[in-house]
Amino acid sequence: MNASAAVAAAVVPAAGRGERLGPGAPKALRELGGVPLLVHAVRALARSRAVGLVVVAAPADGVAEVVALLDSHGLDGKDVRVVAGGSTRQESVRLGLAAIPEDVRIVLVHDAARPLVPVEVVDAVAAAVRGGAVAVVPAVPLADTVKRVEPNPGAPEPVVDTPDRSTLRAVQTPQGFDRAVLVEVHAKALAEEEAGAADAPPVTDDAGLVERYGGRVVVVPGHEEAFKVTRPLDLVLAEAVLARRRAADAY
Ligand code: CTP
Ligand code: MG
Repeated sequence: MNASAAVAAAVVPAAGRGERLGPGAPKALRELGGVPLLVHAVRALARSRAVGLVVVAAPADGVAEVVALLDSHGLDGKDVRVVAGGSTRQESVRLGLAAIPEDVRIVLVHDAARPLVPVEVVDAVAAAVRGGAVAVVPAVPLADTVKRVEPNPGAPEPVVDTPDRSTLRAVQTPQGFDRAVLVEVHAKALAEEEAGAADAPPVTDDAGLVERYGGRVVVVPGHEEAFKVTRPLDLVLAEAVLARRRAADAY
């Protein structure tokens, strides 16, 4: 195995609008502690010795802006490339994957919207793939009890059942994959979409695609600071976590 085959490449889908965060710049470009979420996320990956290349899928109309932004922030000398993302997260990941050199065997996929993932999580996911797992997801136990309902927005919704919480996990990123497997499941999903097979439920993460086609996915411990910035309150929490880190570093 040559050096680049042992090192992982990371794809960072960053092309979303951030509708749930409210009006403003695309979410990946919104600032946390004066630095765009995307830059935090790329730095978190670049800090890992397991990662040799980062491919960012930027908003299609913002590629030049993202290139300039990444250039203006020091990124530990890692190779960072930018491609135009797509209209869905899945498409953005697929376009990012296409920009990874052929000899890279391990791919991590990490949301730009998870700026504070600790490097230990990145390392653990990459190590699990190196150890032979085909698909690895970091996850944490749920704090809330979860109920399945018959969706009926605007009215009381009947409860169908209550899954045993001890068997549930909230899934984060980076998710790690054998590159060939991830490329294959994305290609299959695209072919199904193009064939008009709309009956499959939407898949919201990459490991979900592996599951759909019968691949084995394993969970490793995630981290509470790897949460996704989705709604305005998440930004408040992220600012607080960053302030706590900066205070800790000052001692
Ligand atoms: N993403 C992407 N391309 C898209 C949609 C989403 O690359 N067409 C990325 C987002 O930029 C984000 C990650 O996928 O880093 C997770 O998606 P999510 O949290 O849903 O972000 P948004 O789609 O931007 O937010 P919202 O759904 O609230 O609009
Ligand atoms: Mg979204």
